[in-house]
Amino acid sequence: MCGIVGYIGKRKAYPILIKGLHRLEYRGYDSAGVALINDEGQLNVYKAKGKVAELETYCESKDTRGTIGIAHTRWATHGEPNTVNAHPHYSESERLAIIHNGIIENYAVLKAGLMEQGFTFKSDTDTEVLVQLVEFTQENKHVDLKTAVQLALQQVVGAYAIAILDKTHPDTLIAARKGSPLVVGIGEDEYFIASDATPIVEYTDKVIYVEDEEIVVLRVGEKVDITTITNVTKTPEIKRLELSLSQLEKGGYPHFMLKEIFEQPRTLTDSMRGRVNVRQDNIALSGFIDNKDRFLNAKRIIITACGTSWHAGLIAMYAIEEFAQIPVEVEYSSEFRYRKPVINKDDVVIAISQSGETADTLAAIQLAKEKGAFIFSICNVVGASIPRVSDSGCYTHVGPEIGVASTKAFTAQVTALTMLALCIGREKGTLSKEQYLRIVRELGQIPDKIQRVLGQNKRISDFAKTFTYAQNFIYLGRGYNFPVAMEGALKLKEISYIHAEGYPAAEMKHGPIALISQEMPVVVVAPRCGTYEKIVSNIQEIKARKGRVIAVVSEGDEQVRKIADYVIEVPATEECLTPLLTVIPLQLLAYHIAVIKGCDVDQPRNLAKSVTVE
Ligand code: AGP
Repeated sequence: MCGIVGYIGKRKAYPILIKGLHRLEYRGYDSAGVALINDEGQLNVYKAKGKVAELETYCESKDTRGTIGIAHTRWATHGEPNTVNAHPHYSESERLAIIHNGIIENYAVLKAGLMEQGFTFKSDTDTEVLVQLVEFTQENKHVDLKTAVQLALQQVVGAYAIAILDKTHPDTLIAARKGSPLVVGIGEDEYFIASDATPIVEYTDKVIYVEDEEIVVLRVGEKVDITTITNVTKTPEIKRLELSLSQLEKGGYPHFMLKEIFEQPRTLTDSMRGRVNVRQDNIALSGFIDNKDRFLNAKRIIITACGTSWHAGLIAMYAIEEFAQIPVEVEYSSEFRYRKPVINKDDVVIAISQSGETADTLAAIQLAKEKGAFIFSICNVVGASIPRVSDSGCYTHVGPEIGVASTKAFTAQVTALTMLALCIGREKGTLSKEQYLRIVRELGQIPDKIQRVLGQNKRISDFAKTFTYAQNFIYLGRGYNFPVAMEGALKLKEISYIHAEGYPAAEMKHGPIALISQEMPVVVVAPRCGTYEKIVSNIQEIKARKGRVIAVVSEGDEQVRKIADYVIEVPATEECLTPLLTVIPLQLLAYHIAVIKGCDVDQPRNLAKSVTVE
C-alpha cells in the first residue's frame, strides 16, 4: 500500500505535503514524490528513490512554491522502486500530474489501447496509464477534467485512491477512490486529502471519509463537491476525528502487530488477487507459468530462509511433497551458506523472505546461483535485494509489515507456497483435478474463516492473563501443524521474552515430557485432520502428568474440550490450509501475553525487522 496526501488553500503546500508524507511513511517507503503548481502556473514534479528524507534533500534546491500540491510515498506493486516509477506521474503533455494508491488490474489492456493512439510511457507503472487515459479522454471527448476522470475510472478494474492536478486549473484539486482509503480534511479556507487522517489531524478534526467510486472536487471558497464516478451527486457527511495521531498511524489499534494480525483477511485477499480465480477454478502464478519446466524437471527443491520465513518453508515442504512429489529440503540460510552444500544445476532453490534483505538468505541464494541452481523467491518488498538476485519469484503484496514479529507476511508466504505446490502438482499430474479444485475453492474461503478466528480475540486476551507467570512454554503440533507450533513458540519468545519451544507432538516421549509440570503451559495445535487421534493421545499423556493444555481445535470438537484446560476453535478446512487458521490464535496469544507483561510488542528488545547482518 502507498500513502497519498494533497493540499489546496492559503498556505505554502510543500511543507504540509512533506510532513504529511512522513506521517504516512509507515505505509510504504520505496520512493517519494511531490507535484506543485507555482504562482506562474508551472506544474513541477520532484521525485526520489528511498525514504521521504531523500525527497526533502532533493527538493532543497528546487522551486517548491505553490499553494496547491499532491505528494506520494510508494510501496511498489508494479515496477521497480526507482525514480522513474515513483509518483507523481505526468501525463504526456505534462499538463496533468497524478498520484495513486492501489492496483489497476487491467492496466495492460488500457496501456495497449493508449499506445495504439500514439501514447508513450516513461515508467512501468499502472498509474502512468491512468493519467494518460484521463488526458486522452479529456482531449478526445472535449470534456472538463472531472468528467474525464469519471469516464477514465469507469474503465478501470482494480483498486485506487488518486489525486490529480491540472496546471491549467490551479484552483482545483480532484481526488477519487475505490478499494483504497481516502480522507478529505476540511480547514479554514483550505482542504486536505490523504490515505488516512494522520497527515490531517494536526490541521483540522473535520473530515469526510470518501466512499468507493466517489470523486471529490476541492476549490478554496467552495463547498466540497462529491459525486459518484457516474456523476450522481452525493451529500458529504462531515465527521469529527477523535483518535490521536499515534493511534491513527496504527489504524486505531494499540500496536502495529495487532493491526497487522487483524489485516490478514484483507492482506490474504490482496495476496490471492489475480492469482486464485475461484470462478474459473484456477491458480495463475506468473513466476511458475514462466518457468514451468524448471519446476517440472526439478529433482529436488531446496527451501532456504530464516525465522518465521523458515517456518513457512517447512509448511511448504509438506505441501510440495504431498502434491508435487518432489523431494524438498528446508535449510536455515545461515547453515546452508557455510556447510558446503551439494547443489546441482537441476535444483530449484526457493528463498523466502519478508524483507528481501536478510543477509544469510541473500548469501545462501548467491551461493546456489553460482552453482547453477534456479532461484525462486517469495518476498514482500518489490525490488529488494533477494528478488533482484532471483531468477523469478512471487511477491506476497501484503504492504509494509511494521511489527518486528511477522504475522501477515507469514500467512501470505504460506498461501503463496501452497499456490505454488498446487500449480506444480496439477501440471505434473500428481495432484488430481478433483483435489486441486477442492483446495482452490477452499482457499477462496480462508479470509472469511480467518475473520471468524479473529472474533475470539477478546476471549484469548482474557485467558492470556493466566499465563503471564510462566517462564517456559511448549508448543506441539503434527504434520502441517508442527511448523505452526514452532511459529507460535517463536512469536511468544520474541515479544514476551518467555522461553518457548515448538516440537513435533510425538517427540514429547523422547525427552521433553520430562519437563511437563503445572508451571509450564503446553499449547497443542490439534485440528481434526491427519493424525488427530494421535495428538489427542499426546494431550492425554500431558494431562496425566498434571500439565496445563491450551488446545487449538476444529469447531465443534468435543473430544479435546473434555481434556484440555483451554480450547480455541478454528473453522474446519483442508488439512494443507489449516496453518492459515491455527496460527491466528497463536499470534493473538503471544501478543496479549506480551502486552500484559508490558513488553514493547512492535519493537522487542535486541531484535530488528530485517537482519541485514550475519
Ligand atoms: C519473525 O517474527 C522474526 N521477525 C524473524 O524471525 C524473521 O522472520 C526473520 O528474521 C526472517 O526475516 P525475513 O523474512 O525478512 O527474511
